[in-house]
Parts: sequence; C-alpha cells; structure tokens
Amino acid sequence: MSIRTTAATTARTDFVSTLSAAGLDAPWLQPGPLIRPKASAMQARVWRWREIEPLVRRTPEFMAPGRGAERRILRLDNPGVPERTSGHTISVAVQYLLPGEVAPAHRHTPSAIRFMLHGEGAYTTIEGDKFVMRRGDLVVTPSMTWHDHGNEGTEPVIWTDALDSPVVRYLENLAMDAYEGETQPVRSGPPARHRHYRWETAYAELLRRSAGEPDPFDDVLVEYLDPVTGRSVVPAVGCYLQMLRPGVRTRAHRETSSAVYHVVAGAGVTEIDGVRHEWGEGDFFAIPPRAVHAHANPGRAPAILYSVQDVPLLKTLGLYRVET
Ligand SMILES: [Fe+2]
Ligand SMILES: [Fe+2]
Repeated sequence: MSIRTTAATTARTDFVSTLSAAGLDAPWLQPGPLIRPKASAMQARVWRWREIEPLVRRTPEFMAPGRGAERRILRLDNPGVPERTSGHTISVAVQYLLPGEVAPAHRHTPSAIRFMLHGEGAYTTIEGDKFVMRRGDLVVTPSMTWHDHGNEGTEPVIWTDALDSPVVRYLENLAMDAYEGETQPVRSGPPARHRHYRWETAYAELLRRSAGEPDPFDDVLVEYLDPVTGRSVVPAVGCYLQMLRPGVRTRAHRETSSAVYHVVAGAGVTEIDGVRHEWGEGDFFAIPPRAVHAHANPGRAPAILYSVQDVPLLKTLGLYRVET
C-alpha cells in the first residue's frame, strides 16, 4: 500500500468517525445500491387444524381458568417474521374460552377482527354493544374501543382473531388500557350493526355472487365492508370471504400485499412460488408479499375461505400492485 492510499484510508476513517460522532451516516460509502431490495421475511406456510385443535384444547392445563382468559391464545407463528407473528403486518391467533369465562374489558391501539370457529355462547361487548358470536360471524373491534368477551355457553368456544399489531408496533404506538371493572354495562336498544357481520348474510352474498361472473384469480370473492364508510373493516386490514367452486383452478398472480387464510369448509391446494400447499377444513395458510400464487379446488364440494389481507394498508401507501 502506498503512502498516498494509506493517507486516503486514514482520512476516510477519520471522516466516518467524525460523521458517526455527529450522528450522521453516509450510506454511499458502502458498496451496492442506496435502496437495497429486501426479500420478504414472511414465509409461505400452512398451520394444520388437526394440530391446532388438540393443542388449543390443552391450554387450560397450563393457564388456569378465570381472569386473564383473554390471554389464552395460540398465535400462528411465521418462521420468517422476527416478532413471530403470522405475517409482518397481521397477527393471527386462535383463542380458547371456557364456559363462564370472561376476558376483562380493555382497549388497545391495534384493531382486532374476530371470526367465530366453534362453540355456542360467546359474546363480545364493544363500547356497550353486546354481540353474540355464532359460527362464521365476524366482529370488528376498532382501535381504542372498549371491549370485553365472555362465554355464556356450556362448552368451550374457539375463535380466530387478527390484529394489525405488527403495524402499530412498527409505528411505535402499541398501548393498552384496562377498564375500571370487569365488564362494561350493556346498552339497551339495537347495537351498532357495522361491527357485527353475520355468517348468514356474508354467505348469502357469496352464493349470490357465485352465480355471476367469476374472478380469474379468486373465483368468487366478497369483501366485508364498513357500511358507513364503504371502506375496509379497519384501515390496515381487509377481510374477505371466498368460494372456490368445485373443479376451479385460478390464474396465478402476485400482489404486493400479504394474506393469512382460514379454511372454513372444503379442501384444496394453493401453489405459492412454485410450491404446492394442500389445505383442508380448519387449516390456516399464509401468502407472503409478491409471492406468485394460484388456488385450486379439485374436489366436488365448494371450498370456502376466510382471509385477512393488508391490501388496504398497501393501497393507502400507494404500494398496492398486482402482476399477472
Ligand atoms: Fe383486546
Ligand atoms: Fe391473490
């Protein structure tokens, strides 16, 4: 090394340490482009109901019945996401509530969307409006609304919830308040309808659409919308109910958004970036952003899928793109 390059190296080292002391960084001193493409941390994967169900039913052995029941969840862990949520924007969990249990009232900055899976007698009270949750019902708890849940039935109940908590965490705004008292007083009169989407209504709409022109990528798809604003149920996450009719194979596409699906009924296969993922009733599966995906239902019965997707967030940021 010549004296000249040694002097240059020393000058550069001095420059970098002076920058660093001033709280500055010069990224152009590193090789490579300024904006480095980053592979998705979120991975494609399937979570099997035959594994989830016996495990979720064992959770009371390890978490005693009673107060704090709102914490008895099994979160769908995506191996690629550092915070171990189901996607990098959406956290999906399966919740188990025993008869008589109450999850004490609270509110938090993440919005939550509940979709009822099994059992009778569950309810959610949101801002004083009590909603009885039957199988296939969807209940939305917007950011910072007071809510409590309970199981007034005689058997355990299971639902799945989806939160935008990874986004809220990224925005450094995770917060939660406890309510004074265990449950909220229930208001009389009809509750705010837009927080409760009944299965019968959503499924009837899906059947009605199935008689019309199919979607090449999703076959038959309905989005749950806020009837007041006409927008997605919460700002960052859209919820969808979908039917893949018997024998359908959808066209492949890639979207900048990501999705977590739950199989309400039927069976099928989703090819994600060239890998076949078979799924059956009760299973969950994740599609990462920009992954090429296509669905197929080779069976004789319709397959019904419920999904949560970060499409509204990507659209708000001007980042939503589809490639076919
Ligand atoms: Fe909550
Ligand atoms: Fe798609």
